[in-house]
Amino acid sequence: MVGAGLAGQRAALEAVRAGLDVGMLSKLHPLRSHSAAAQGGINASLGPKDSVHDHVFDTVKGSDYLADQDAVEILCKEAGPTVIEMEHFGTIFNRAADGSLDRRAFGGASYNRTIFSADRTGLALLQGLFEEISREKRLKVYEEWTAIDLVVRQGRIQGVVAMDRKSGTIEGFAARAVVIATGPFGRMYPNTTNSHASTGDGTALAYRVGAYLKDIEMVQFHPTCLPGSWILITEGARGEGGILRNAKGERFMARYAPNKLELASRDVVSRAIATEVNEGRGFPDGTCHLELMHMGREKIMTKLQEIVEFARNFAGIDPVVEAIPVYPGQHYMMGGISTNPRAETNISGLYAAGEAACVSVHGANRLGANSLLETLVFGKIAGANAAASAAKATASDLVQADVDRSVQNLHVMWDRKEGESPATLRQELQQSMKDDVGIYRTPQQLEKARIKIAELKQRYTKVHVQDKSTTYNVNLTDAIELGNLLDLAEAIVAGAIHRTESRGAHVRLDFPKRDDASWMKHILVQYTPTGPALSYLPVTVTSYQPMERHY
Ligand code: FUM
Repeated sequence: MVGAGLAGQRAALEAVRAGLDVGMLSKLHPLRSHSAAAQGGINASLGPKDSVHDHVFDTVKGSDYLADQDAVEILCKEAGPTVIEMEHFGTIFNRAADGSLDRRAFGGASYNRTIFSADRTGLALLQGLFEEISREKRLKVYEEWTAIDLVVRQGRIQGVVAMDRKSGTIEGFAARAVVIATGPFGRMYPNTTNSHASTGDGTALAYRVGAYLKDIEMVQFHPTCLPGSWILITEGARGEGGILRNAKGERFMARYAPNKLELASRDVVSRAIATEVNEGRGFPDGTCHLELMHMGREKIMTKLQEIVEFARNFAGIDPVVEAIPVYPGQHYMMGGISTNPRAETNISGLYAAGEAACVSVHGANRLGANSLLETLVFGKIAGANAAASAAKATASDLVQADVDRSVQNLHVMWDRKEGESPATLRQELQQSMKDDVGIYRTPQQLEKARIKIAELKQRYTKVHVQDKSTTYNVNLTDAIELGNLLDLAEAIVAGAIHRTESRGAHVRLDFPKRDDASWMKHILVQYTPTGPALSYLPVTVTSYQPMERHY
């Protein structure tokens, strides 16, 4: 396993219980993985009127019909058993007065189907799962190891080369199967809810050895973030009754989504906030306001303790008595390593799950609380199938020469005496993504971003790592991560330029309509030394033909 968040841990558990010896590499302690940042909940159609079919339909509609419906069916069918299993692993969920699992409303959902642990659901799941995997003797966790290369020969994965951050030692991990579960790569944006470690390492490594990326142009902006720190204010706040207002005091969502209002899908609510601000109806600080005050202190302090703390500590606002200024921030990558519903990539023995991957259950726009679900459902599938593949495979032929090659490549950068600072290049990348690859996209902006990223990639060939020490060399790992972000940003922009329509989170002002005749297909991106190569994959439609979306 590369990555130890929910997807990596769930995959590891499944593989080890299939009788394999499993190594799990993580650049952090597993409990510090970005899964811990997920706040509002996990979807499962456990309510009395709800059904798997409704969950499938809402997810497909939310995706603006780009999701693969066979994969969505698996996601939604497995949701109930997954939540129950996590409860049995020790996750403590909120309870309703009758003792059943409490459920809250979330965006784009026809029923209250979001199971939650107050507003720290990701952490609660991670703790339950970590306790479970900690019992497994055949699972070895390599904490604070950064993966730097994947080794592939004759189309089959042979293992991973990784660096121990504590000592700088570089070692090869021979493996008959590998699961990539390294999470998001939102740190190419400055205005992101993603943790600092979210640099897409596994996704970039897989891309460089020939794995396809899918739906990579689809970048989600979460409507309610705290500007400046870009800390998430959970959609659960709106699910519990929170209201959005502009500076004129209008509950403006009535104009954009008359039925679902604040609980329309995220792409719709984010565009609405941006439009209010762009058209001069925002507050002077460029925000709209999220009001919770009418919900009363007790409800706020019971269901949303964490966001009260965030608002107090990071915005100096007390949500019990004041409105919270919010603006959309980058939150999630719908795209990632292309897999089929078995979590298989196009490289034999290489699997991927969670946000690093794209099975495509989210298509062009993910529904809130489907992400935690995806990590667990497809993490488990990845672990089971990787274990079966490993059991049949011959021994890995990863050799010392593979490790030596990675060491040499790293030293070309590390030994350089002068050059560009990784921090400067990263800031310029972030500025470019923020300015030109945002909620609304124009061809001029995307072209500007393409040129800027090409320039940054050129300058990256001269990047200079000032720190020559081997112990916790953050300067070196920053430089490695920057290379990953640059490759993935280049792919995002290539896909966004190519998709000449508006669908879900991808809105082109020059092509404002969804174009099903030309674009009911996934864009695949493959790495080449001269730049991203694009091709297509049909969307799998089982039950739901595309319709116009209304909320
Ligand atoms: O708003 C939230 O709590 C985020 C949930 C998610 O992205 O699934």
